[in-house]
Amino acid sequence: MKTCTLEALSEQTGLSTHTLSKVHARRSGVDLRTLVRYFSAFGLPLEQGDYRSAEKVDTKDRPKPNTPLSEGPALPSPTFTPAVSWGTAPDVAKFYGRVDELATLQAWILEQRCRLIILSGMGGIGKTWLSAKLTEQLQSAFKFVLWRSLRPISKAHSPLPFDELLDDLLRNLDPQSGLSGAEDIRTKILWLIGCLQKTPCLIVLDNVESILKQASSGDSADGNISIGYQAGYEAYCELFRLIGQGRHQSCLMLTSRQVPQKLSPFSGENRQVRLFSVGGLRTPDIQQIFAAKGCFQGNADEWHHLVDYYGGNPFVLETAATTIQQFFGGSIPEFLTYKSLLLDDIRELMDQQFGLLSESEKAVVGALAHQKMPCSLSTLRSHLPASITNTHMLGILKSLKARSLLAKAPTNPTMTSFPANYVRDYISQNFG
Ligand SMILES: Nc1ncnc2c1ncn2[C@@H]1O[C@H](COP(=O)(O)OP(=O)(O)OP(=O)(O)O)[C@@H](O)[C@H]1O
Ligand SMILES: [Mg+2]
Repeated sequence: MKTCTLEALSEQTGLSTHTLSKVHARRSGVDLRTLVRYFSAFGLPLEQGDYRSAEKVDTKDRPKPNTPLSEGPALPSPTFTPAVSWGTAPDVAKFYGRVDELATLQAWILEQRCRLIILSGMGGIGKTWLSAKLTEQLQSAFKFVLWRSLRPISKAHSPLPFDELLDDLLRNLDPQSGLSGAEDIRTKILWLIGCLQKTPCLIVLDNVESILKQASSGDSADGNISIGYQAGYEAYCELFRLIGQGRHQSCLMLTSRQVPQKLSPFSGENRQVRLFSVGGLRTPDIQQIFAAKGCFQGNADEWHHLVDYYGGNPFVLETAATTIQQFFGGSIPEFLTYKSLLLDDIRELMDQQFGLLSESEKAVVGALAHQKMPCSLSTLRSHLPASITNTHMLGILKSLKARSLLAKAPTNPTMTSFPANYVRDYISQNFG
């Protein structure tokens, strides 16, 4: 069994060595947050049987020395067993890395009581898996946990209609509500908010980009970006806003390739509504994913080069891994000499991401891909045709940022690494 020092554990959990000693001694009470954090450092969900609530203890009923005790009602009451409906959430037993991301998001939800969190990032970067792992770790702090995906089953189908989602949530959160389903949307929304006030619920809605029309921007004559939306978009955003700004003890987590623009104004570093940009995995995490697939050869530099080229995107790297096995006998250096040949599955993902950009947006993306470092707005400006006005350029940068194609703030733009590599290779292959 691996042993670890108190200091190392302190670094891993973010808890002081004093608090850790209290947890280990199991004689006096600690905050439930402390226990959640402690357990999650070992990848374990904190379950009801793992602790006792402060209010249940009186002088005659002292905790047994080996029973950690939680204090106070700072968190949702820990005395219930959560009712969990996972829907189509993936099994994340083989989940690697993301220690910092999990700790940050956990603090946002349990300590800072954020009501709405939007995880955004490009396709395949790991939003769904991160949210599933987080849900797994935090589930015992909530009475109801619901996971739903809004993604249509195929391109020929529509995303989950708003009314259907609302009925589904109410059926699960308040089975005895007596609602017939025929009530108007306003009544149902009020009822839902009432449920979130009464009991702590964690709701995860995956693939929110499905309710944003894919062809999001066109160039209008006045240089503004016009955005088309799926039916139900307005209602969904209004529900998200009401939950994000409401008074209740629950949390709604969304994942999306694109941040719904209507929600950005309500978010902020110290607000109940937060945006979290999901980045790539690190090389050691990717190596663990590869190890589950088979044997690969490469030195540290070659591994780093491979992971860096694809921006740590686990979906893309898993796709590359299959090709490396099938065509290069597991040799990473051999594959790297061919890496600019984008694999079909990756191309499809990139085409989804880039295929519907307007001509002006493509011009901005092309100019940015040539700048390997963040560039100033004036440098970018000098690489764009005069037909793109300054206002238009800023609008385009905002729209690229919302789609996770921009790594830095629009005032100092640069593209996220993998799409930039894709665009550079595409340009050099097609236009010499
Ligand atoms: N932390 C992780 N550990 C191991 N594998 C991971 C991890 N994160 C993601 N993956 C792998 O990468 C794949 C893509 O991740 P995920 O589905 O979460 O991406 P996404 O950002 O939700 O993509 P999309 O926008 O297409 O929905 C997963 O199917 C899984 O195989
Ligand atoms: Mg996903």
